[in-house]
Amino acid sequence: MVPPLVRKSSGTCSSSSECSSSSYHHSKVSLPRQCGALSLPSCHLAPRCNHDFTSNFAPVEEIGEPILITDHIEGEIPKAFPEGVYIRNGSNPLFGGLKSTKSIFGNSDSAWVEGEGMLHALYFKRKSDENDGGSSYTVEYNNKYVETSSYKLEKQSSKPLFLPAVKGDSLAVLFSLMLNKLRFGENYKHYSNTNVFEHSRKFYSVAESHLPIEIDILTLNTLNQWDFNGTWNRPLCSHPKRVVETGELVIFGVEATKPFLEIGIVSADGKELVHKVDIKLDRCCLCHEIGITQRLIEYEKEKYARIGIMPIYGNADSIKWFEVAPHSTFHVINSFEEGHQVVVWGCRALDSIIPGPEGGLNNDPKWFSRCYEWRLNMETGEVHEKYLTDGPNQFMDFPVISESFIGIKNKYAYTQVVDPIATSDAGMPKYGRLAKLYFEEQLSSEGDDGEREEEKVIKVEYHEFESRNVFCTGLAFVPKQDGLHEDDGWIIAFLHNEDTNVSQVHIIDGKKVSDKAVAKITLPCRVPYGFHGAFLPISFQPPTPSSS
Ligand SMILES: [Fe+2]
Repeated sequence: MVPPLVRKSSGTCSSSSECSSSSYHHSKVSLPRQCGALSLPSCHLAPRCNHDFTSNFAPVEEIGEPILITDHIEGEIPKAFPEGVYIRNGSNPLFGGLKSTKSIFGNSDSAWVEGEGMLHALYFKRKSDENDGGSSYTVEYNNKYVETSSYKLEKQSSKPLFLPAVKGDSLAVLFSLMLNKLRFGENYKHYSNTNVFEHSRKFYSVAESHLPIEIDILTLNTLNQWDFNGTWNRPLCSHPKRVVETGELVIFGVEATKPFLEIGIVSADGKELVHKVDIKLDRCCLCHEIGITQRLIEYEKEKYARIGIMPIYGNADSIKWFEVAPHSTFHVINSFEEGHQVVVWGCRALDSIIPGPEGGLNNDPKWFSRCYEWRLNMETGEVHEKYLTDGPNQFMDFPVISESFIGIKNKYAYTQVVDPIATSDAGMPKYGRLAKLYFEEQLSSEGDDGEREEEKVIKVEYHEFESRNVFCTGLAFVPKQDGLHEDDGWIIAFLHNEDTNVSQVHIIDGKKVSDKAVAKITLPCRVPYGFHGAFLPISFQPPTPSSS
């Protein structure tokens, strides 16, 4: 039985308010292609819609071919900045979103996270002639949808087909899942919108509901799904982790039926799955990220929280579990071994931001993540846990580190800082500054009652944007080639100014995070808020005769 779709009027989806490009293009920018908001269908295709199409969460049109933007750079791209691609994934709902349902089972609503993945890429190419008096780089921008099977299906039908299956009443969501499966053979629409990663010089778009999809990084064209020659038959996590010493890739995947969570290891050349293990959980739970040390894996789950430590080639019987205080942690900053202890740093909230029936975030601190430390003693089984940060700007997420320190004790990390008021107003997470964490520089902490606490917090340095209405996404760290120190490099992020409706990419010196950006690159169109970014080094120089 198909639950009836209930048509409700809504003032938020009747039209797109920004299709006119002149209203938001920076005055200095005059580019050949215009990129307005996505042309939305009439409301009968989205009878009940919570999206605010006037905000920067609204989708944009696909450009699909590179646009040269070198002349729109304020400051200078550092000469030591590597060639490569800065790329960010994010939700760009086709047709503006999904239909919503209302039935005897309750409501299920379209959620922004269910939007199709769109890749936004900046190509940094070193000029062969550096004596032209201008930038040493040419910079191009492109965006493109990840063309999954469900994207193609809905695009061909010119309307949304899948029912929303993330946000709503449990029974209504369950029925949406069942109907999607019956009608299209899939519980969820394949929205490959969360992250981009590289392995063995191939590039993949991924969301944890499906397999990763290979992308032609130069054109952003969609290639094939990656299932390791048919040996991985379940979704793959959004955050696979590369083992620094071996180059192997640690992956995991969650399913709603047994086995609920499997962990795998992919060979360094990407050609085979060399290890796969069911860790024999007795229930399904959301698991977004794991951490690795040089030889161990840790895994977390929300509610009844515990962290498991398993040798990298171990199995369910070799996991050592540690009970920890209940929490919700989406992102691990890093984990490493120190004596008999495994140290895990993550962004920990008291409750999950996955929306329930009401959806939306309010200004309740329980939704927001703070940087946190768990110390797990492998000999005694003891756990010591504490917050690492406090103060007025203590809520942070989307952490990044220099990738060569994954699984190894690091000194620094970089995060996006939550703006609680803007987030509460939007009902969606917004990040109003950046931060650098100094793990080896400790300060005294002040407790809630004003008393000085024994626990120390770490030093945090902030990078402020030029306006309170500027927000960032897609933070990544770009290591300097041949850099001597862990923080030799730059942080890079997409920013959007809601006062001017202009989107930029900023490059900030990793050693001088509180200084103003060394380069601000104005983009030819609005870039909606999104999820994870990555910098992927690529040489664009033609091979020399000796190397060919
Ligand atoms: Fe994530």
